[in-house]
Amino acid sequence: MSPETILNNPATVTNSTFDRDNFNNYVMNTYGRFPIAMEKGKGCWLWDTEGKQYLDFVAGIATCTLGHGHPALIETVTNQINKLHHVSNLYYIPEQGELAKWIVENSCADSVFFCNSGAEANEAAIKLVRKYSHTVMEFMEKPVILTAKASFHGRTLATITATGQPKYQKDFEPLMPGFYYVPYNDIGAVENAITDLDEGNSRVAAIMLEPLQGEGGVRPGDLEYFLRLRRICDETGILLVFDEVQVGVGRSGKLWGYENIGVEPDIFTSAKGLAGGIPIGAMMAKSFCNVFAPGTHASTFGGNPFASAAALTVLQTIEKEDILHNVQARGEQLRTRLRAMVQKYSELFVEVRGWGLINGMEIKEDVDLTSINVVNAAMEKGLLIAPAGPKVIRFVPPLIVSSEEVDRAAEILEETIDSLV
Ligand SMILES: Cc1ncc(COP(=O)(O)O)c(C=O)c1O
Repeated sequence: MSPETILNNPATVTNSTFDRDNFNNYVMNTYGRFPIAMEKGKGCWLWDTEGKQYLDFVAGIATCTLGHGHPALIETVTNQINKLHHVSNLYYIPEQGELAKWIVENSCADSVFFCNSGAEANEAAIKLVRKYSHTVMEFMEKPVILTAKASFHGRTLATITATGQPKYQKDFEPLMPGFYYVPYNDIGAVENAITDLDEGNSRVAAIMLEPLQGEGGVRPGDLEYFLRLRRICDETGILLVFDEVQVGVGRSGKLWGYENIGVEPDIFTSAKGLAGGIPIGAMMAKSFCNVFAPGTHASTFGGNPFASAAALTVLQTIEKEDILHNVQARGEQLRTRLRAMVQKYSELFVEVRGWGLINGMEIKEDVDLTSINVVNAAMEKGLLIAPAGPKVIRFVPPLIVSSEEVDRAAEILEETIDSLV
């Protein structure tokens, strides 16, 4: 069904009234929300409760891999909820097993732990690193995990500590011990930290990084940096952990973000796009560092039949519909259009950067324009985009976005920028 058909079909858009005051009275105020509420979606299009139509280049922040209302996902979740949606991990869950098999056969990992979100997947990775360091590494009473400045790893206590941005940590002290921050893409800083932290029974157990920093401003990892990191880890036994929560599951144009930088991690995490918007998280590990045993880590919902079936459908659909090629082609098309805009408004913008369908456009520091200004103005004109920090506009559409939709998004963005200068 085309967006026009849906919009013109009164049975599909109800224009129900939405009581924002009611919402604000009862929901904790943890988000700076835009003043709209979505009611319906199809493909890359959304309609709000007023019936206004938007082209969705946010996709639930890099989560709705197959867009909205994809027939394969609808069929799977409908069938699965009719059959069985949840049982405990006290029993074998065949759907979880099938999903883990697919991931292992299509990645560098040997096994998978399932949970419900990116933060939880990273928590699992942090716990695995700590258990490995205490049970396998010698003289390691106080293991340290190096993470990058400007990184983002989640909102639990351990993951805000891992996150190298003080604004997420403020007022939540005391933070977790055992983390140390280094500038991203700076190999000298890693080498110095490893030497400096090598004291008594405290040393670096793992380096945990995003292959491309998402929330930190859409900054791709440098090839040479990651090659040298891998070499350091091989020589020292330090574990290399990648947070693929935002960049994984096809978003980069490859199935996993690490394929763009030519090195394999020992442990990596996934969530967001894995089940296309059904909550799931996963932590993958190579067998040599999988020291988890019964009782060491668990999750009530993790890998339940419903979420597992949804994720398997997302992954199989990526494969069956050759979605990675679409991501590469549409990403190239989008970057070309955005780069033309950077040239046209060279007084406003620094550059465009990204992989596949995770791209950022950076606004000059000294210009009186923020990413939120652009996001708000684009929303008025019917295009949803997201900020990645105060000066970077982020484009993360569903991976099924069409060539026409990329052109339309570029047109709206250009009109938006015209209206702001
Ligand atoms: C790289 C990265 N890691 C972790 C997270 C946290 O994921 P969640 O919000 O599912 O806990 C995010 C969320 O934006 C992310 O981008």
